[in-house]
Amino acid sequence: MTRATAPGKFILFGEHAVVYGQPAIAFPLRQLRVTAQINIIPDAPRGHVRLHAPDIHYHAWLHEADEENPLRKIVELTLDEIHAQSSPAIEVRVSSEILVASGLGSGAAVSTAIVRALCQHFEQPLELERQSELVYEVEKIHHGTPSGIDNTVIIYDQPVYFIRGHQPERLSISGELTFILADTGLPSNTGQIVGNLRNAWEQNRPTFDTIFNHIGQVAERAKSAIAAGDVKSIGILMDENQQLLEQLGVSSETISGLLTTARDHGAYGAKLSGAGVGGIIITLVQPTASTRIVNALREAGAVWTGVTKV
Ligand code: PMV
Repeated sequence: MTRATAPGKFILFGEHAVVYGQPAIAFPLRQLRVTAQINIIPDAPRGHVRLHAPDIHYHAWLHEADEENPLRKIVELTLDEIHAQSSPAIEVRVSSEILVASGLGSGAAVSTAIVRALCQHFEQPLELERQSELVYEVEKIHHGTPSGIDNTVIIYDQPVYFIRGHQPERLSISGELTFILADTGLPSNTGQIVGNLRNAWEQNRPTFDTIFNHIGQVAERAKSAIAAGDVKSIGILMDENQQLLEQLGVSSETISGLLTTARDHGAYGAKLSGAGVGGIIITLVQPTASTRIVNALREAGAVWTGVTKV
């Protein structure tokens, strides 16, 4: 039996604009993980692979799964890459602690854990850059036109300053930042939201390009504020980023309600994180205020909360 894990992630600055070439900042969320386990199935024909995801009550033979099934796709891509198709039959078993469709990178984390587990099982190491490319291929099924930020931050498992098509830059951080993540309980359908925004952009490029550029500038300023450990400026920039996301039309009343609660209880700043509409919000807080703000967010309707320090 071989087992590998992968973290979740959250985007602090620059979602959506990152699809259009602007910089974004993201962190791995190491306390929530996906585990992939490979077990040999002794009595099945060689080369057979069984997919098993008990959390979603899914199991199927690989060759019988839908061709666009992300689990099938990542297993096939990886086995092709490491030339491991005709080995003894295996079961690929996946379990996840990461909320689905919430902006926490569940899809990319599942793919990453599977790539890692298969490479370990077949004792075929793969460079991180290549692993990231394989996961990106599957992200296209989830997202349509992904920027690549999710696979990058999860595969490299480091805070990143990311620009589409460039080598990721490791983010420099001074001091410790305390964030609360809170789930609205509403789904965030990344593919659909990114697609709708693309349609809106095609109708009115100058307006949307101006907003994307502005978000890029916010992310760039945030990079310096994070390097300096300037929590007040980071909070102000989060609020500014949120206003721009509202102008893009990817926020919602439920999101705004949680953001107001966080700010009213003394957060430095707060914004949606990921594709938006539903999914999670993120707020930067003083460490001593975190319990108070978590309780307030719960009372305001958050269905899940987590505190993370970076
Ligand atoms: O997967 P999510 O919901 O965290 O969103 C990804 C971030 C987007 O910028 C909205 C899309 C992308 O591909 O970068």
